[in-house]
Amino acid sequence: MMPMQPRGVDQNFTSYGDAGFSRYLRRAFLASTGFDGTDLDRPVVGIADTSSDYTTCHRDMPALIQAVKRGVLQAGGLPLAFPTISLAEILLSPTSMLYRNLLAMETEEMLHAQPMDAVVLVGGCDKTVPAQLMAAASANLPAISVVTGPMLTGSWRGERIGACTDCRRYWLLHRAGDVDDRQIAEVQQSLCPTGGTCMVMGTASTMACLTEGLGLMLPGGATPPSGSGDRLRQAVESGRCAVELATRQLQPRTIVQRAALLNALTVLMALSGSTNGIIHLIAIARRAGVTLTLEDVHEVSQRVPLLVDCKPAGCGYMEDFHRAGGVPVLLKALHPLLDLSVMTVTGRTLGEVLHDVPPPGGWQQTIRTLDSPFGPPGSLVVLRGSLAPDGAVIKRAAATPGLLQHRGPAVVFESPEDVAARIDDPDVTITPDHILVLRNAGPVGAGMPEAGSFPIPRRLASAGVRDMVRVSDARMSGTAYGTVVLHCSPEAATGGPLAFVRDGDLIELNVAERRIDLLVDDTELARRRAQFVPPPLPERGWRRLYAQHVLPAHLGADLDFLSSALP
Ligand code: FES
Repeated sequence: MMPMQPRGVDQNFTSYGDAGFSRYLRRAFLASTGFDGTDLDRPVVGIADTSSDYTTCHRDMPALIQAVKRGVLQAGGLPLAFPTISLAEILLSPTSMLYRNLLAMETEEMLHAQPMDAVVLVGGCDKTVPAQLMAAASANLPAISVVTGPMLTGSWRGERIGACTDCRRYWLLHRAGDVDDRQIAEVQQSLCPTGGTCMVMGTASTMACLTEGLGLMLPGGATPPSGSGDRLRQAVESGRCAVELATRQLQPRTIVQRAALLNALTVLMALSGSTNGIIHLIAIARRAGVTLTLEDVHEVSQRVPLLVDCKPAGCGYMEDFHRAGGVPVLLKALHPLLDLSVMTVTGRTLGEVLHDVPPPGGWQQTIRTLDSPFGPPGSLVVLRGSLAPDGAVIKRAAATPGLLQHRGPAVVFESPEDVAARIDDPDVTITPDHILVLRNAGPVGAGMPEAGSFPIPRRLASAGVRDMVRVSDARMSGTAYGTVVLHCSPEAATGGPLAFVRDGDLIELNVAERRIDLLVDDTELARRRAQFVPPPLPERGWRRLYAQHVLPAHLGADLDFLSSALP
């Protein structure tokens, strides 16, 4: 099939009942910006800009946008940047996840409504990249992703530290009384020393690497630090590539095929990446009309070892991963486990892209080989059982081995607010053997906050307890760690079994057998189920629409009317 010719600014006209008038009027307004006929006859590359003063991770983004524009102009295109909402992980309440689908919907609509032949999606912080990819898969407009890149590491009293695995570790030490107020204040000033996203294998880094693994980003685009020359050159090259995509009309659904998604899952496991990557990949797949399930996640997890030494599963940081060669070298190491025939934004197959990439060099220890991995397969485990009939997830690589098989009595918290109010209450009996249950924190219940790795009670932390089994329908930050069972589905707010747990009920976690069970007999459970009253929906606006239409976690937590029908 011949590629379609770019149609530039002369598409998607505002309707006045006279196409000639629409074209005349549009070009009159564009003339006010200084563009002449030569400019306006070029292919248009939209640039989705998620910079915001609130999104501190994106503070280097203005320079990145200028670099993308430079690349577009060099290749003969007309760059037109446009703002979208920006999702700042740390500054959004109750959780950025509540707004992922809003950004996806907004971006999709702007890709349809504005004239453009291709788009450069510029994101970074956790939910921005998946939202943009969901939009691109739905709009099926030629698209390339550029991320702002990770922060550089900081230092405190000689120790290299960074956001946000070390944030959590030091806060735990502070809660336990091992780090005093003055010290924690010093740590606070050292965790985020530059612009950019969290510099461990949290959700932002994970999603950047998965996007590159999926083929929607130029090779080497995931890891250059924010603000670096490498990062800016990637942006320029991505701008040039976008013009090529516009000319070739290489669409996202040509790239986001099942084989490419399985490649991305392979990358996820080799990184021991964020559990959030599972939800986002399933949502992206469904936008592209591709079936991807939790069983796919588990199957890939079982055969892919951990190859990258990066926190929280390892010791390194993203700058180490970048210096070791980043995702291209990792993909080269994963070569036998990948489908190399998949298409990428370069217009070449993954196999062609990797042809000249060297395998992991012996001079570095960050990216390992399949023969000498950093950790065994099975980093992420999909659980089932009477507490999660539709599935739950545990990050085994970040859990305490001695807790992977554990039976204990439940202590139930009704919400993240209830945790905050009662976790340190001396009247609540909690021992290290208890299993802490948090409910009403799923997509419908609370927008699915990253509340799943909630704190160990202070009195136990002070006594040296560093981990306990926690079970919830919430998510967990990719920077977090612990024996934490997440994404229990169906969630409590829709009548999932988590809603029926009572204090003292026995729960059994058995990761080897992939089980999470509530050890209460069926008659008693049926009695409790009959008494279930769902929580009220939010009263108005986006939160109401979201709660009415959000899909369960195991289906990607997208809105039902945006997620493509599956075969
Ligand atoms: Fe933005 Fe971690 S808070 S990437």
